[in-house]
Order: sequence, then structure tokens, then C-alpha cells
Amino acid sequence: MELMSYFCILKQLVTKRQMNILLLGSGGREHAIAFKIAQSELCGRLFVAPGNAGTATVGENVALDSNDFEAVGRFVTERHVEMVVVGPEAPLVAGIADYFAETPALSHVMVIGPRKQGALLEGSKDYAKAFMVRHNIPTARYQTFTRDTLAEAEAFLDTLPAPYVLKADGLAAGKGVLIEPDLATAKAHLREMLDGKFGPASASVVIEEYLSGIELSVFVLTDGQHYILLPSAKDYKRIGEGDTGLNTGGMGSISPVPFANKEFMKKVEDRIVKPTVRGLREEKIDYRGFIFVGLMNCGGDPYVIEYNVRMGDPETESVFPRIKSDVVELFEHTAHGTLDRASLTVDQRTAACVMMVAGGYPEHYEKGKVITLGDEAPDVMVFHCGTKAGPKGQLLTNGGRVLCTTALAPTLPEAILKSYNRSQTIAWEGKYNRRDIGQDLLKLMQMES
Ligand code: AMP
Ligand code: GLY
Repeated sequence: MELMSYFCILKQLVTKRQMNILLLGSGGREHAIAFKIAQSELCGRLFVAPGNAGTATVGENVALDSNDFEAVGRFVTERHVEMVVVGPEAPLVAGIADYFAETPALSHVMVIGPRKQGALLEGSKDYAKAFMVRHNIPTARYQTFTRDTLAEAEAFLDTLPAPYVLKADGLAAGKGVLIEPDLATAKAHLREMLDGKFGPASASVVIEEYLSGIELSVFVLTDGQHYILLPSAKDYKRIGEGDTGLNTGGMGSISPVPFANKEFMKKVEDRIVKPTVRGLREEKIDYRGFIFVGLMNCGGDPYVIEYNVRMGDPETESVFPRIKSDVVELFEHTAHGTLDRASLTVDQRTAACVMMVAGGYPEHYEKGKVITLGDEAPDVMVFHCGTKAGPKGQLLTNGGRVLCTTALAPTLPEAILKSYNRSQTIAWEGKYNRRDIGQDLLKLMQMES
């Protein structure tokens, strides 16, 4: 055999087989996931639907509606896609993983994201709470009510101390949770919710005890039998500095979270992660994807505030850059039920993500402003959230959350500084960002030292 043929065979043996991958979604989360997928030796063509101007730099954007399963399925067949990674919750709650599993021509495709039953952990607060109770997972005491049980709901509120937590049972675009300072307001808003304030999502309302503490987001990748714990992160939800003003999708994130030390994370794993995965297994829920556990650290003990069945945004923008392992390999193990054979390597540096938003967000804001990106900086990534390419090749704002900078550095203060320095070189009319991302954690660290 000629030397060239030997060379070809050897190359085939050492180069891994590549596959086409479709990622669904269009935010900063998806840009960060796409950025890691594109680094994988296993990734052939990467399609992102619909994507943004950032995902177009690491993959190919396609104009597909991820809630139109037939169109997604047709695209997957035409382009020989072997793996679909689902970014947002809506297609999962609507059953995209079931659609693929139950359609013979698509059932061989690996879908990263749970089936409908598992997605209920995010799709129904009542379902999630009942799951936690069934599996002894620490969470706030609660009861669920409908219009028919309004009197009982009011009586339950009477038994609780202020403040009061009211949660629409179904998906309400992140707006379905109300924290009420006094009983009269809580009762008035409860009535409004049951009367359809959030449409069918608030036909049932979960009322639960208020937990006070510091929140963090813990991320798990599971194949339904085994799991790996991804880096944890802290998210900054309010628009204003010092956590004031309206709730947003998230104004920045830090990973790792300094107070989530070994001792605390052991409690999280033993009391929450293991029982959750065991619960899925016992209830025969086919779950292959992410579990995002929103936690409250109450005096050193973790309590679950919510489950999401996807990665967080903007947590992904600080978590994914810290993952050194090949994420496509991790996803393959997830789909095949072999996550026990996978291992995770994490960058020990701290990631600080600063979100930049359109003026007026989260209320009224304008789109279509021209963005200047400034100069690149070492170890700082710029992830796109709401951006699009303009007709003359300019970069335009196309959403409330527009861009974020994620810096990696040996310490938290350095990561924060680097991220802010980079964000200041980015400009458009009306740009706003919080200036205090990570400051609460720095204060906590100073208090503890
Ligand atoms: P959720 O959509 O369930 O994450 O709730 C939105 C936000 O409301 C959370 O991130 C918390 O800040 C807050 N929250 C939810 N449930 C509680 C609770 N039981 N006690 C205190 N704060 C809560
Ligand atoms: N950052 C919170 C979320 O993604 O729901």
C-alpha cells in the first residue's frame, strides 16, 4: 500500500467523526453554547436557529421557528443533522424531544433537552413542588389554589408571615412570580392572577413561604441515570444597582460563586441533585439534558426555589467559557445514557459577565441602533444577545439585552475589572449596564476574611 493510503487510514483513525449539529435559540446563552460547540473536534456544520449576529460568527444561522417541529424536523433530515441542542424552555415544554423520539425518520437524532414530562419541572410550578415533596427535596412550604379555592387560598395567606410569594403555575415569560410586602396587596394580586392576569398560566397559583438568603444557580447535565455537576453561577436579576427596580432576564453573572464552597456544594449534591436525579429515574422520566436548580442559601442550607429545564441566561455566558471539556462529547454521553463515563474539566479562573442592555429595558426600548464593538481584549469574550446584521453590514441592536462581556481572570476582582474595561469600549445610543456586578460577592468575601 502506498504511503499516502497508510496516511489516510491513520488520519481517519485519529480524527474523530464529525457530525452536523443544530442549536435552537437566539440569545447570549445560545452564543455561548455555540462558541463551545464550535470548538469541538466532533462538530461538523453548526446551524443555529434563528441565532443572532454573534452565533453567525461561529455557525450558520437558519431562519427556523423552533416551535414549528415539522419545519425543524425537515431541516434536520435535509442537512443530515445528528444532534439538536435546545436552548430555551418553550420547545421542550411543547414536546420537541417527544416529537423527535416518536417520528421514525427522526428518532435516531440526539436531542439535548428533556421530554415533555420532564420539562414540566419548569412548565408547572405545582408539578415541580409536588415532585420536590415526593422526593424530600428541601423547598419552601407551599399550597396550590385555583379560582374555586380562593377562600382557602386567602386563609392560607393568613397563616404565613410577610412577605408573600405568589407564583403563576405555568410559563409566564419570567414574570409570573410576585413577592408581596403585605397581606392586602397579596390578596388583591392573588385574585387578579386567578382571574387571568397571566392568562392560562395563572389559572393555578402556588403560594409559598418566603425564603430569605442569597440565591445561586446550580447546573446539572443528566442522562436520566447519571449526572455531572457543571460550574455554578450567580445571576443579577434586577435592572438597578444594589438589586433594585424591575426584574430582567439577568444583568450579569459570576462563576464560580465564592460562598458555594465544598461544604455547601456537598449539601446541594446530597440533598438536592442526587434526590432529583433519583426521582426522575424512579418516576421513569426520560430526561436527557440540563437541570438548572435555582437555590436559596438560607444560613448555609440550600433550598430549591425553582427548577428550569435549560441553562440560565446570563449564567451560561459565565459557566460555558469555564468548561474545558469537549461539550459535544458530553452531549453525546447525555443522549446515549453514558454520562458515568464522562469527566468534566473546568477552568479554575473566575468568569465575570456584564450584560449591556437597550435604554428603557425591561420596559419600552428601541431596536436598530448601530453598535461599535471596540477592540478585542485577551481572555474577554463578547457574547451577542439581541443583535442582528444591518443591510450595510453594520451591527444593530435587536432586543432588550444586547451584548455581554465575559472575562476570565485568576481572581474575582480582576475578572470584574477586565469585563467592565471591555464593556466600556462598546457603544450604541442608549446603552445601559449595571456597574455593581459581583460587588456583593466581594463584600461577602471581605467580611469572611
Ligand atoms: P422564580 O421564577 O421561581 O425563579 O422566581 C423569581 C424570583 O423570585 C427568584 O429568583 C427569587 O428571587 C424570588 N423568589 C421565588 N420564590 C421565592 C421564595 N420562596 N422566597 C423568596 N424569594 C423567592
Ligand atoms: N437567569 C435566569 C434564567 O435564565 O432564568
